[in-house]
Amino acid sequence: MPPHRVYVARLLPEPVMAEIRSRFTLVNAPTLAPPSPDQLRLGLIEADAAICTLTEVITSETLAQAPRLRIVANCAVGYNNIDLDAACSRNIVVTNTPDVLTDATADLTWALLLAVARRVVEGDRLIRSGEWTGWEPTQLLGADVAGATLGIIGMGRIGQAVARRAVGFGMKVLYTSRRTPVSVEAKGWQAVSLETLLGASDFVSLHVPLSADTHHLIGSAQLRFMKPTAYLLNTSRGAVVDEAALMEALNAGRLAGAGLDVYEQEPVIHPGLLAQTRVVLLPHLGSATARTRTRMGMICIENVTTVLEGRPAPNRVA
Ligand code: GLV
Repeated sequence: MPPHRVYVARLLPEPVMAEIRSRFTLVNAPTLAPPSPDQLRLGLIEADAAICTLTEVITSETLAQAPRLRIVANCAVGYNNIDLDAACSRNIVVTNTPDVLTDATADLTWALLLAVARRVVEGDRLIRSGEWTGWEPTQLLGADVAGATLGIIGMGRIGQAVARRAVGFGMKVLYTSRRTPVSVEAKGWQAVSLETLLGASDFVSLHVPLSADTHHLIGSAQLRFMKPTAYLLNTSRGAVVDEAALMEALNAGRLAGAGLDVYEQEPVIHPGLLAQTRVVLLPHLGSATARTRTRMGMICIENVTTVLEGRPAPNRVA
C-alpha cells in the first residue's frame, strides 16, 4: 500500500481518481455529495494531504484537528473557502489550480453574455411552453453584442481571456485591475476607474477573487452607476455581488439583466432571482468541462505529490 494517506473530499473525474488510487492510500470513500463537517473532520485527522473543492470550508478549527496534514490542494482557482492564515501558522501548504480553467471559465462567461443579450433561455422556454405561434417582428428583442462596450472588473488570467474573445465581436474593452498586466498594454484595452467602467459598459463582467476587499464590491451604490440597458455577468464568486441590491436594481428596471454562475449562499438561490425572466442562472459551471476538471484534479495530485516528497508545490498560494 502506498505510504501517504490522502483525504479526497468529493469524487473527482475517474482518470483523477485512478491516479490518486495508484499513488496514495485513500483515507475515505469520496462520493459526489459534499462531506458533512464531521466527515471532513474525521477524514482530515488521518490524512497527510487533502484534495478539497470549493464547497469544503476549511477553518482554523478544522486544521487544528488535523495533526498529520501537510497540504490542502484546492481543486479550484479560488481559495476563499480556506483559512490561509491558519494554514500558514500550522505550516500547511495550500495550493490551487490556475491556468487550466482559464479558457473554460472565459467561454462560460461568454455563454452567459450571449444568453442574456439575445434572450436564449427565454426563447427556449417559449418553444417548450407550446405557446410559440411563429416569427414575430418584435418578439424577444435583445441587445447587440457586436460593437458594444465590455467592462471587465479584474484583469487577471480569466478577465484577459474574456477580453480576448471580445475582439472577434468588435467590442470596446474597459477594465479595472489591481495591477496592469504587461500583456494588456498593446491591445487597446483601457484601464479606467470602477465608476467609469460601470457607467460606460453595456456588459460588466466580474473576474476578481473573493476577499474582504471584494466582498459586495458590486452593491447598490455601484449598480446605480450602470446603464438601465446594461447587463451584469458574474462567474467569479457570488459574494462579490450584493444579491439583494442586484434584485432591487432589476426590479426597479435599473438594469437590463444579469447572467450568474455563482451565488452568495450556494446552493441557495435568492428567491427573487428565480422569479426574474431577464436573469440567466447557471449552477456554478465555470470550469465544468470534462478535460478541464480532469486537468484540475491532476494538478492537485501533482501538488500533493511534491509536498509529500518534500519539494516546493508548483501552485502554492499559502
Ligand atoms: C471555480 O469557481 C474555481 O474557483 O475554480
